[in-house]
Amino acid sequence: MCNVTNEKILQVLGGKIPQATFECNKTAAECSFQFWIQEDESFFCDLSKCDYEYDLAANSTHYKCEEVACECLPDKMLCGKSGSIDISDFLTETIKGPGDFSCDVHSRACKFSEPSMNDLIMNVFGDPYITLSCLSGECLHASEIPGFAIPPKDKFTLSDLLRVFSVIFACAAIVGISIYGAKQSPLFASGPVALPSDDNDGGDDYLMADYVPATFAFDKVSYSINEKPILSNSFGLVKPGEILAIMGSSGAGKTTLLDILAGKNKGGKKSGYFFVNGERIVSGDDLKHFQRACGFVDQEDYLIPTLTVYETVLNSALLRLPRSMSTEAKTAKVMQILSELRILHIKDKLIGSDFERGISGGEKRRVAIACELVTSPSILFLDEPTTGLDGFNAFRVVESLVRLAKDFNRTIIFSIHQPRSNIVALFDKLLLLSDGEVVYSGLMDQCSQFFADRGYQCPSGYNIADYLIDITSGDSSLIQATRTTEAAEDPRLDPLLESGESHRPPQGTGDDMTSEWAHYASHRDELRVLVPSGTKESNSSSPLATLFSKSTEAEQLHEDIKSLASVHRSEQASEDDPSFFKDDPNRARAGFFTQLSILCSRTFKNSYRNPRLLMGHYLLAILMGFFCSYLYYDVQNNISGFQNRLGLFFFILTMFGFSTLTGLHSFSIERIVFIRERSNNYYNPLSYYLSKIICDVIPLRLFPPIIFMAIIYPLVGLNMAGHKFWFSLAIIILFNMATAVEILIIGILVKEPGSATMLGVLVMLFSLLFAGLFINKDTIPGAISWFERISVFHYGYEALSVNEVNGLVLKEKKYGLDIKVPGAVILSTFGFDVNAVLFDIYWLLGMLGAFTILGYLGLYYFVYETR
Ligand SMILES: Nc1ncnc2c1ncn2[C@@H]1O[C@H](COP(=O)(O)OP(=O)(O)O)[C@@H](O)[C@H]1O
Ligand SMILES: [Mg+2]
Repeated sequence: MCNVTNEKILQVLGGKIPQATFECNKTAAECSFQFWIQEDESFFCDLSKCDYEYDLAANSTHYKCEEVACECLPDKMLCGKSGSIDISDFLTETIKGPGDFSCDVHSRACKFSEPSMNDLIMNVFGDPYITLSCLSGECLHASEIPGFAIPPKDKFTLSDLLRVFSVIFACAAIVGISIYGAKQSPLFASGPVALPSDDNDGGDDYLMADYVPATFAFDKVSYSINEKPILSNSFGLVKPGEILAIMGSSGAGKTTLLDILAGKNKGGKKSGYFFVNGERIVSGDDLKHFQRACGFVDQEDYLIPTLTVYETVLNSALLRLPRSMSTEAKTAKVMQILSELRILHIKDKLIGSDFERGISGGEKRRVAIACELVTSPSILFLDEPTTGLDGFNAFRVVESLVRLAKDFNRTIIFSIHQPRSNIVALFDKLLLLSDGEVVYSGLMDQCSQFFADRGYQCPSGYNIADYLIDITSGDSSLIQATRTTEAAEDPRLDPLLESGESHRPPQGTGDDMTSEWAHYASHRDELRVLVPSGTKESNSSSPLATLFSKSTEAEQLHEDIKSLASVHRSEQASEDDPSFFKDDPNRARAGFFTQLSILCSRTFKNSYRNPRLLMGHYLLAILMGFFCSYLYYDVQNNISGFQNRLGLFFFILTMFGFSTLTGLHSFSIERIVFIRERSNNYYNPLSYYLSKIICDVIPLRLFPPIIFMAIIYPLVGLNMAGHKFWFSLAIIILFNMATAVEILIIGILVKEPGSATMLGVLVMLFSLLFAGLFINKDTIPGAISWFERISVFHYGYEALSVNEVNGLVLKEKKYGLDIKVPGAVILSTFGFDVNAVLFDIYWLLGMLGAFTILGYLGLYYFVYETR
């Protein structure tokens, strides 16, 4: 809408306002011009074959039309209305064009000129053309203005560079501080350690201090799983300074009995009476105190392969010794134990694993024992401490246990399977099991006489342990063979003969039982297979078990146990005898933060001694960062640039998401160590869990994405405007950590590594599916739209994409046509919420928190020892 500004015209019209409107259709190359007086149209012109010019710098437009055709509206001003001139003929006949309309948009000064019209105006009013003042306007998006050029991409500025470097420096600083912090931990101390003096005569005998000698007795110990009895009515008694060996063939119930005696959590139904120094273990609290005063060494060694012998034992000492004890005293105690167990010379050797050669099996066993000894246990339980060791090493292990019992007055109970005779000679007491029943329980040196008196004479020079195992294995033909010398002559009793083989020993003189027995012993396994199963006793109790249970020895033992209990009761009545199951406030163990720092420094040590995983993640981040930068170098603000950005983000999330699967493996390795240490009261599960989050999740999941982003942001040329860089860092970190903890939950809940990986991959894939790239939000069936709500990928992907693309204008030239799309439009078409960046970040944060809590609950309630 323009006002006519020619002075003369305004004067002639005498106050009536002349106006003109001008509009164009660029595609049709047509314009139209209308002339109004006092808001009443007088005439109009159609202009065609128009050409259009503009000058953005001068902010001016210029329309030039070759043909002009004008026409008056009848009876209007200038067109025949009474009292006014009539130019209708002039308009239709004379005005032919070309017409010209130009405007300086800024000053609003416009003009309309056409040669004949100009002549008329010149003649009548004395002006060269119609001058106008226009309020022009069009409804356009900025990007639709003809000639709009996409503003060049923001240059990477110095401040951007500073931002990227500040992030890298911050990471380096955090790593530096954590290394420093971890090195402060006593576990890292590499200074000289005081060696214990060779003659332990001083007052610094840590093994003798802080323990209560314990006489341990148990009676009527039974155990059954699903109504199937595994153990029945076991009983025994062992005093300080004594060693009780639980012997029996494999499957006899040794481990089961040992677990029950040590108060381990068992799946089946157990019953029995347990006494320490005559005091019965009644309540759960008693059991807890009892367990604290005991040590338990498993049949398998679950040691951390990357620690040295000294560090392994020190780790146990720092975690389990009273906090009131000084660190120096703890290290000195460790050294004393190492020297006591004769492993001081290997103290700086790594434990090693199947892949990396470390110390020998016998040495590992002694390290495991050392870990238990640090707490000065009154009673030490060991499950088959010699299994898997050669004769010499087995002897050394048992010998060190004997020394411990004798020199330090400890009570030691262990199970053992077929010990050599030099080892048997070291036992004080023996509990012989056969199919869960007690065949003998009492002094070792009376055992041989006991059986001999009942017709089971161990051949002289023969290993009594082998003999006992054989007679308890329930093979009557073997028992017979030793009970009657005639049996040696009876071919029916030698099934090897019957089967046609000639393993028959040289005929003995009748009383040469040794060689006779040696023959049977060496072939007993074959014999067992050959002897028809019908010969085995089918009734519930084996004759040997009945023999013992009816003996005076058994009666005497029951009496001893009973009298111990009554002596204790009378002592209790007379004086204030401190209970074995008491809480000593001086013995409070390492507090939560100490535990956390020790566990962290241990994990830390593990990482730097076995840096492949950590280095792998960092290298991957750096290499992939440069690779992606190469691939997506200097991404443009166009549609393909949009595709590239979305593709890049998807790739980043997938890469980091799937690399969190390594967490499954590292937890599955540690699982058994955790279970064992938890059951042996090393620490509470929360300290372990937090140390896992701090030392495993953070270094592996926090820094690699930061490094990656710091590389790709400048090189790919992603949007660094405002806080976008910080947001993207926050998003990728939260995403990566939430995924890592989500995977950790799977690792915690699913024991088998194979199934855990399978489930982990499935969760990832489902999460990916609903990220927003594979399916549009609006087309997800309503019933499963909540999948998207629980997909970490969805939040990460939406936030990253919106953070980057929102605010950009994407332009594409296709077939000469300019397609310009604001980023927000294309994002919302893709189903993304363009205002959701903060919302998504909060969700990621919430999910991280929820997963962390869930993971802890999983660890607390599902990962404990059941045997
Ligand atoms: N959790 C269990 N479920 C079923 N049977 C079990 C379980 N634990 C042990 N047993 C059975 O109890 C018997 C004794 O097992 P165990 O104490 O391990 O023997 P040992 O240590 O003497 O070789 C075996 O026959 C074994 O099959
Ligand atoms: Mg066993």
